[in-house]
Amino acid sequence: MEPILEISHLSITFTQYERGIHKRELPVIKDLSLQIEPGQIVAAVGASGSGKSLLAHSILGILPYNSRMSGTLKYDGRPLTQERAEALRGREIMLIPQGVTYLDPLMKIGPQIRKGKRDAGIRERCRAALKRYGLKEEIEEQYPFEISGGMARRVLIASAVTESPRLIIADEPTPGLDKKAAGKILGHFRELAEEGAGILFITHDLELALTIADRVAVFYAGETIEEADASDFKDVEKLRHPFTKALWYAMPEHGFHPIPGSQPYPGTMAKGCPFARQCRKCTILCREADQISLKPYRGGLVRCLYPGKEEAK
Ligand SMILES: Nc1ncnc2c1ncn2[C@@H]1O[C@H](COP(=O)(O)OP(=O)(O)O)[C@@H](O)[C@H]1O
Ligand SMILES: [Mg+2]
Repeated sequence: MEPILEISHLSITFTQYERGIHKRELPVIKDLSLQIEPGQIVAAVGASGSGKSLLAHSILGILPYNSRMSGTLKYDGRPLTQERAEALRGREIMLIPQGVTYLDPLMKIGPQIRKGKRDAGIRERCRAALKRYGLKEEIEEQYPFEISGGMARRVLIASAVTESPRLIIADEPTPGLDKKAAGKILGHFRELAEEGAGILFITHDLELALTIADRVAVFYAGETIEEADASDFKDVEKLRHPFTKALWYAMPEHGFHPIPGSQPYPGTMAKGCPFARQCRKCTILCREADQISLKPYRGGLVRCLYPGKEEAK
């Protein structure tokens, strides 16, 4: 199937001024590629600070003014330009934002969900969407401060699905929700995918991602280091990158083994593999390589010079 979203070699840098004079480019996302097909749920999994929200914002065309982007984004086979992103967001491409602060505190819930639309069916669709997430229609007359955080989350999701969206970008949509509540929301994502939407599910929680995703893209320090079928995670030997394997061993059901060290801060890795300092299999080449590209390997993609390699050289 043709992908609905195709991200190729996306890089995002920020311009920073040190002590107000020295200009510095800070790379945050480096050479990131990802595809989503209609009906597919792709999870982007990475620790905090790995560039997940920036990825979401680049798709919606809402990157901060001091950022620069390179690479290509295609939606429905055609370049997703800034103009197209603006025309499509809120209609075909919906963001479920990371924070409930995205709700306007001064506006009642109903008008926020309707987003200024006044066509005949909008009130019905709005009500149906609220009902789907267990919210009564009275909530339309309330202000955000009058509802709980959990309800605000559901309002954001209802708001995103009022007009049958074709692409949903869900940026950590279930923080602070217990497993049951999170599972319910993810169940709705599956329904939306079955109706044909493509879904990018952004999360730091691999375990949660695996309950729903078809494909998983693992992020590390702004790079996709592996893309795998969710089913590959049933057997650690099917996984390709040492970091993905480390994530697997860190899952509670696989013994909770901590990953030594931490993700490098963006901009501090001039070359080499970002996981090199923490990798038992690291060689001099891993530290010195100018660019390690994402390559097909055993049915997935991996950015490693020695994928699947078991012992250090
Ligand atoms: N406007 C900005 N200026 C400079 N750096 C930024 C800006 N926005 C985000 N960053 C940096 O980019 C990195 C990735 O941010 P983000 O995409 O929010 O990560 P995540 O959502 O994975 O936690 C972080 O290190 C953050 O500090
Ligand atoms: Mg984020």
